[in-house]
Amino acid sequence: MTIKKNIFSILLLTFAVFNITAQEAIPEVEALLNKMTLDEKIGQLNLLTPGGGIATGSVVSKNVELKIKEGQVGGLFGVSGPEKVRQAQEIAIKNSRLKIPLLIGSDIIHGYKTTYPIPLGVASSWNMELIESAAKMAAKEATADGINWNFSPMVDISRDARWGRISEGSGEDPYLGSAIATAMVKGYQGNDLSNSQTMMATVKHLALYGAVEAGRDYNSVDMSKVKMYNQYLPPYQAAVDAGVGSAMTSFNDIDGIPATGNKWLITDLLRKQWGFKGFVVSDYTSVNEMTAHGLGDLQAVSAQALNAGLDMDMVGEGFLTTLKKSVKEGKVTEEAITIACRRILTAKHQLGLFDDPYRYSDTSRPEKDILTTENREAARKIATQSFVLLKNENNVLPLKKDAKIALVGPLANDKNNMLGTWAPTGDPQLSIPVLEGLKNVAPKARISYTKGANITNDGEFAKRVNVFGLRVDIDTRTPEAMLSEALQNSENADIIVAVVGEASEFAGEAASRTEISIPPSQKKLIKALVETGKPVVLVLFSGRPLTISDEFTLPVSILQVWNPGVEAGNAIADVIFGDYNPSGKLTASWPRNVGQIPIYHSMKNTGRPAPTNRFEKFKSNYLDSEISPLFPFGYGLSYTTFEYSDLVVEKKKITQDELVNISVTVKNTGDYDGEEVVQLYLKDEVRSITPPVRELKGFKKIFLKKGETKTVSLTLYANDLKFYNSNLQFVSEPGKFVVFVGSDSTAEMSAEFELE
Ligand code: NOJ
Repeated sequence: MTIKKNIFSILLLTFAVFNITAQEAIPEVEALLNKMTLDEKIGQLNLLTPGGGIATGSVVSKNVELKIKEGQVGGLFGVSGPEKVRQAQEIAIKNSRLKIPLLIGSDIIHGYKTTYPIPLGVASSWNMELIESAAKMAAKEATADGINWNFSPMVDISRDARWGRISEGSGEDPYLGSAIATAMVKGYQGNDLSNSQTMMATVKHLALYGAVEAGRDYNSVDMSKVKMYNQYLPPYQAAVDAGVGSAMTSFNDIDGIPATGNKWLITDLLRKQWGFKGFVVSDYTSVNEMTAHGLGDLQAVSAQALNAGLDMDMVGEGFLTTLKKSVKEGKVTEEAITIACRRILTAKHQLGLFDDPYRYSDTSRPEKDILTTENREAARKIATQSFVLLKNENNVLPLKKDAKIALVGPLANDKNNMLGTWAPTGDPQLSIPVLEGLKNVAPKARISYTKGANITNDGEFAKRVNVFGLRVDIDTRTPEAMLSEALQNSENADIIVAVVGEASEFAGEAASRTEISIPPSQKKLIKALVETGKPVVLVLFSGRPLTISDEFTLPVSILQVWNPGVEAGNAIADVIFGDYNPSGKLTASWPRNVGQIPIYHSMKNTGRPAPTNRFEKFKSNYLDSEISPLFPFGYGLSYTTFEYSDLVVEKKKITQDELVNISVTVKNTGDYDGEEVVQLYLKDEVRSITPPVRELKGFKKIFLKKGETKTVSLTLYANDLKFYNSNLQFVSEPGKFVVFVGSDSTAEMSAEFELE
């Protein structure tokens, strides 16, 4: 009894000294901290990569083994496989003084080995259960291979398709982005982090990385707080609310201070306002990069980052090499280092690594859990739901399974571009090319294939794209010879299917483009194919919204497939032949031209709104372009048609904390069973700050058999009516609200209610 009492008072004293709450304190962690030297604490803040996987900077860690032995490493990434991970843990457990296990991180952005579509594609499914289950599958595979910590979800809102990393996120909308962030965190982490089939998630990149100026990667961000709070921050906060274990800072600056050293961001916003309890890791060498940003030498920027609230330094070793000196010079306190170290140790404790450092090193798991038939089937299903039917000329799609098809295009028989960007753990050679998929699903179809064109004819551009392996393979034949072969091949076909678009590394990190159209080599091919007079279906690959006004005006059908992942060909065939009726909806507006960027549905009205599709002088429009996008947010066709009617808002007047129940009738009026994403947009008529013209505030994906009618209920909660005002208070203001319900962000059917 007395002994217990004493331990308790020692613990209480420790908590008081280190200013932590009883909720955060874990006796095992505190006991360990009490034994640690300053060097050992600093060591825990150091994240290294021995260079496996893809290095996203110019530095790769050296002497990793020695550093682990000396207690200078808190975690590793780029190491995988149960044996290798066991070896790494053994170095820490058997050789370092305090035997502290390692975090083993990885970038599992869209599937581990069973790669599913890029996140922008997955988001287009608008199916939260599916997204959660995809993340769960990724966690099961990754943990089977030794990983316990994932650098995902990436929840950066982006309204700029020039930015290559738009592919890694969920698009332009904070409401949808928040729902997806929540689903992914739940999927990765489950409800027990110590379960050896779940891994810790990282919300990234805090913050506003998707708003880099001019869409140029790593560029500056300067944004009003009102815009930040209302439009860009919600998905990060949603991930925090869902219990995400760690957060990663972004490369950009915010208000002139790089995110990695930004105290307002990491401490005031993330920890104090949002109540984040996990640890914060930098991005790859982003501590060091603060020097290039202009904030001083490595010692100065490392101290700034730690004092801002950063806990772990990825790869750059600024913490490892300078923090002790900074403590001596009074630039940082040992207490700040202890707090950061506590957060890392707490994460390890939550993952169950102190109970069993080898819990993610079960050699029997990879075979059972990775790339199973079940997982591949799931990846195929996810892919089919991610496709967006942009146009169906004369209802040419779906094709008959015995059709005579000329399959053309540089991506038609390709394995290297199916997975998409940021799939370093996937193997492109396992992916199903479109040609193979079509044959699998429709063995009776008569398919003849020709390449027809290169992805691009520009050798210099191809070199930049081919950094992670051959994505663009420029043929030895001349473009003319390839084209004439394709035309000849098309002569006997009933229909031409052209598989075109971007190579996977046209998008992703450090892959920004100022021109986001289909490359000229392929444009030429498409035009020539259309001139044959045969029906043409474009199967369009891309990691971003493209500008395809030229192709849209041609008499072609267009199925947008992003980068579908390992089951690419099969999933595409499922949709092309009608085994699955497409249901994807865009989560980022597709501009008509680059000059319209940034473009998004929740724009402001301005004081001089332009009339729709008509130029008027002294209105907010362009001389040389319409202002509307080519395809609006939420857009996507189906093989069937849906009719909306009877929009009912239950109450015409509500008080501040009342719900608004809304119902609408949806009928499948076409010839196929199908799914529809019923979308609800809200317009706040009068506000103390300028409101967006409308904002997404609800959605439901439903299935309707041909001819079937359903009444769909949607609810607006008190928070859905709120916004951050100019004092950054989250409020709703009395007045009229208009509800729009329909199948995309241009929905016209509306009803009103009033908030008292
Ligand atoms: C840099 C990227 O910005 C980040 O998303 C990724 O997690 C790290 N590299 C680690 O690979």
